[in-house]
Amino acid sequence: MTDDTDFNPRAPDFAADPYAVYARLRQKPGLHYFADLDMWLASRHADVLSIVTNPKMPRMPGGILPSDELDRRQRQDNFHDMPNHQRFVQFSMLNSDGDVHDRLRRQVFRLFTPLYITSHRAVIQALVDRILDRFADGAEIDFVEDLAAEVPGHVIGHLLGVPEADCPMLRGWSENIVQYFDIDRSAERKALAEATSAQFADYLRGLKRQRRESPGDDLTSKLIAAQDAGDMSEDEFLSTAMLILMAGHGSTIDVLGSGMHALLSFPEQMQRLREDQGLIQTAVQEMFRFECPLPFFDRYASDEVTVGDRRFPKGTRFGLLYGAANRDLAQFDLADHFDIGRKPNRHLAFGGGAHFCLGNHLARLDMEIIFTTLLARFNRIELVEPPTYKPGLSVRGPKALRLKLSRG
Ligand code: HEM
Repeated sequence: MTDDTDFNPRAPDFAADPYAVYARLRQKPGLHYFADLDMWLASRHADVLSIVTNPKMPRMPGGILPSDELDRRQRQDNFHDMPNHQRFVQFSMLNSDGDVHDRLRRQVFRLFTPLYITSHRAVIQALVDRILDRFADGAEIDFVEDLAAEVPGHVIGHLLGVPEADCPMLRGWSENIVQYFDIDRSAERKALAEATSAQFADYLRGLKRQRRESPGDDLTSKLIAAQDAGDMSEDEFLSTAMLILMAGHGSTIDVLGSGMHALLSFPEQMQRLREDQGLIQTAVQEMFRFECPLPFFDRYASDEVTVGDRRFPKGTRFGLLYGAANRDLAQFDLADHFDIGRKPNRHLAFGGGAHFCLGNHLARLDMEIIFTTLLARFNRIELVEPPTYKPGLSVRGPKALRLKLSRG
């Protein structure tokens, strides 16, 4: 067993630069045991990919471990005694496997087609134009609060038929719930995650009543139809709607912020994008690779499994360091260089295998529209002060990003 001395995601310098730590982990042979979470960390691209695509490595330990052990782990992770969180958040498509996962995923997959997402391009463009109209020549803004945070929640809310005035509230709720998946599981954070889960479920029950009375082309109406057809239960409806509203909310805000920061840190790449906007799609994919906004997930071994040249017993928990895999030199030339034309770019920011992100088209479309429009409107974008990044293992993004925008 290797020791943990090299891996301390709570340390302030981890938030400042996790990539130096990830590089050290990748250089160590095999996987790294992380006692804090009793799991083996995979940091190399090939190891992470082999775990996410292995059908013997589900998301959840249910059915693998005896119930008293499941109970012990739930307490150890401080996920117990929070009934609403357990019912609507700890259970979801993302946190299920096998037939239940397949059934729920099918319902969302058939709705979230690239064609359906692209059909909302004009709505997203109009929203971004409206926000950018607020910024005068020479304006100093916080890119995170004043621009990034205004878009993803409104777009997902729009898709689900949430009234526009309610969309800002959803961001706070998503944050309250998502934060509890990180390593800081204090009593205060726990109470917040539980209270917000109850509030969110109540809100969605109300939205459902409204949509049932006047169904539309929105996803809520379509999920109601799926429930009526017997394809999901009431609780599954609520957890699925909640997942869609939360899954890509904070993460899109984070990657917008770190993507903007990357363009500022590699000015020749920003210039390249200005000169050839046809590069926007590869540029956005490179932002996901370079600063993976959800850098950490986990899996369990449902049987004895092999990773690299080592065997692990049934029940082993694995940590997937997507952020580390995305900087692996064995997969990406000049992995620490930000290259907006990178092709191929087999990054793992959207995961892989059975749980591959269903919202990736939407997140990418939001970003393509925001960066294309911002660069077209402002010829000069300058950093006012260097950003600090959020602490933690599960999220990655700047807390704020102060910029000066000039037209000339
Ligand atoms: C910055 C944007 C996003 C990132 C980085 C991201 C990343 C991910 C990742 C890594 C997973 C797989 C988790 C695992 O490996 O266990 C995932 C799953 C998922 N994502 Fe995203 N996501 C983003 C945006 C979105 C958006 C906008 C939506 C929907 C509106 C969405 C919906 C989902 C859903 C429903 C799943 C679960 C799929 C399943 O369990 O089968 N995501 N996402």
